[in-house]
Amino acid sequence: MKGIILAGGLGSRLYPLTYATNKHLLPIYDKPMIFYPIRTLVKAGIKEIMIVVGGPHAGHFISVLKNGIDFGIKHLEFAFQDTVDHKGKKIEGGISHALSLCEDFADNSSVAVILGDNTTDADMSAAVKEFTDGATIFLKRVSDPNRYGVPVFNGKKIILIEEKPRKPKSDYAVTGLYLYDNTVFKRIKTLKPSLRGELEITDLNNSYIKDGKLNWAKLSGFWTDAGTYDSLFIASEYWAKKHL
Ligand code: DAU
Repeated sequence: MKGIILAGGLGSRLYPLTYATNKHLLPIYDKPMIFYPIRTLVKAGIKEIMIVVGGPHAGHFISVLKNGIDFGIKHLEFAFQDTVDHKGKKIEGGISHALSLCEDFADNSSVAVILGDNTTDADMSAAVKEFTDGATIFLKRVSDPNRYGVPVFNGKKIILIEEKPRKPKSDYAVTGLYLYDNTVFKRIKTLKPSLRGELEITDLNNSYIKDGKLNWAKLSGFWTDAGTYDSLFIASEYWAKKHL
């Protein structure tokens, strides 16, 4: 299985912190944010990694990560998620769009995908080893589900995921860790932009649900995204205490 970290987008929710560098290079306690998803993949035995970067400070990633050897990566590649095409026409961005840029890198294998602003101490090794086909998502109980993709259950089965619902139908967040078989790239090509003009990861996961191909597991351990001032602070506080 190959690993993909999605670290595109502009990080505008964190202005002014992201005026002068990329969101995923901001510190979570004593390390740049991007170190955490890298560590999660490497810990799960994944050594071939593509990072999708974007925005005006994308070049900074190279100075920080170099060729990845210090992290135990054997093969590190970057892709740039642009906001306009070669004719200057605006591209519909979004998480699924960022993932679509990794099709050649995946080379017909399955992929473990992590959002670049997610930090966890969960161990994905077993899920990666057991993965055969379809998609696997990881859920975490949260107090503010309306910030996330939220599963709708029928018994133990997920029948739909709603993106940032006003009235969440469960108190679980779909975390930004996903395992996909190689049909993922074909599926992304069928997605339509959402109302906010993005190719959503939730729509991609719903396409697996429609085909009865979505599995889920609870994520054990600490997890948060770090894409808002508060969650960035919570992440730093957790890792600072864990290091003590
Ligand atoms: O953190 C988990 C949540 O992440 C999920 O529960 C949601 O279903 C999912 O949509 C996502 O929600 P966010 O609103 O937190 O996503 P955000 O726009 O902050 O993007 C998260 C990361 O994804 C970001 O740090 C980099 C990557 N990304 C995002 C966009 C929009 C890209 O690589 N390219 C993009 O165009």
